[in-house]
Amino acid sequence: MKIHHLKLINFRNYNKLEIDFDNYNIIYGNNGEGKTNIVESIYVLALTKSFRGSNDKVLIMNNKDFTRIEGKVEDRYTDDYKIIIKENGKKVKINDTSISKLSDYISKIRVVLFNPDDLRIIKDTPSTRRKNLNLDISQFNNSYLKNLNNYNKVLKQRNMYLKSMYFNSNKSSDYLDVLTDNLIDYGIKIYKSRKEFIDLINDNISELYKNITGVDGLIINYISDFNDLSKEDVKSKYLNIREKDIMFGKTTIGIHHDDIIFKFGDKVIKDYGSEGQQKNAVIAYKFAVLRLFKKKLGSYPIFILDDLFSELDKSKIDNILDIINDGVQTFITTTEIDKVNKHIVDKSKLFEVIDGKIREVNKNEGRV
Ligand SMILES: Nc1ncnc2c1ncn2[C@@H]1O[C@H](COP(=O)(O)OP(=O)(O)OP(=O)(O)O)[C@@H](O)[C@H]1O
Ligand SMILES: [Mg+2]
Repeated sequence: MKIHHLKLINFRNYNKLEIDFDNYNIIYGNNGEGKTNIVESIYVLALTKSFRGSNDKVLIMNNKDFTRIEGKVEDRYTDDYKIIIKENGKKVKINDTSISKLSDYISKIRVVLFNPDDLRIIKDTPSTRRKNLNLDISQFNNSYLKNLNNYNKVLKQRNMYLKSMYFNSNKSSDYLDVLTDNLIDYGIKIYKSRKEFIDLINDNISELYKNITGVDGLIINYISDFNDLSKEDVKSKYLNIREKDIMFGKTTIGIHHDDIIFKFGDKVIKDYGSEGQQKNAVIAYKFAVLRLFKKKLGSYPIFILDDLFSELDKSKIDNILDIINDGVQTFITTTEIDKVNKHIVDKSKLFEVIDGKIREVNKNEGRV
């Protein structure tokens, strides 16, 4: 999958921008000039919202009332994608046809992005890791989000009913059984999807981490209350905690408590790994996701490495860039172009960004 052409209007600090991309693209410039904004726009075009978690409104250039992103994207066919964001909502189009349901649009353009904030996948709370997992799995598995929404709906109903049982001991436990049964059914589906995904990531992540660092043994452990249990076993688990659930007025076990733990052998990276090791572990994870896209969907997604280089030594950077193969369209943003290996620079299109203006750099200018 490749984005050949990008056009921005009023996006962040870009009033107007129109560029053509190559297979390898390096966007460089000083802090705050607008490098991340460019790759963010590609991400927003694909997924209709930013990875920077913020409100859509901040994507619109200050003092303007809309922003528009357009891209020509090739997968099996080449299509024109468009997103228009206003204060009160957004609209998407493919080849000038409006798509009324965002869910029919999202993930047609596939993107894997690394950004320094992704270190949260290791450092942050289980809830951050679950969110990230949900986002990643939903791109391969159409029914995943539906199952998750259904699970969350039943979970809410069950929690409400538990509270009402606490205050009224005459309430029937039959209805609780029905809710529990529904919850378990959706929970098992989600458990299976997560397990399958993590197993597939584990098929590759150790080798990828070794390619970057020379060290073996990176693995992700999936921690779940449903761990390899049959439906009957899960049911009896729920039966055992029923009184406790009623006391607390909430469901104390289930896939809403799942977590994943990055480990070197038996050492937990969150507690043990250096900054650089954590970063390399996240990058190995991203490469594993990239391979999974190729395996499951037949083509590589667009690969974005935003500000990859800080805290990494030159040899790790070289190793990371060596893993990327020419079939993957790649975007690299950096303040330090001299950290990029010459053979990558030689095959890349270079862009310099200064204060919301981008220009293609002729490599013969002698600037790099
Ligand atoms: N809605 C907006 N309207 C105008 N300018 C904006 C808007 N949102 C962000 N900016 C500007 O965009 C710039 C930040 O751009 P960006 O995050 O792309 O920088 P960067 O080049 O990636 O920097 P760094 O090297 O620090 O990561 C800031 O100068 C910020 O003021
Ligand atoms: Mg940036």
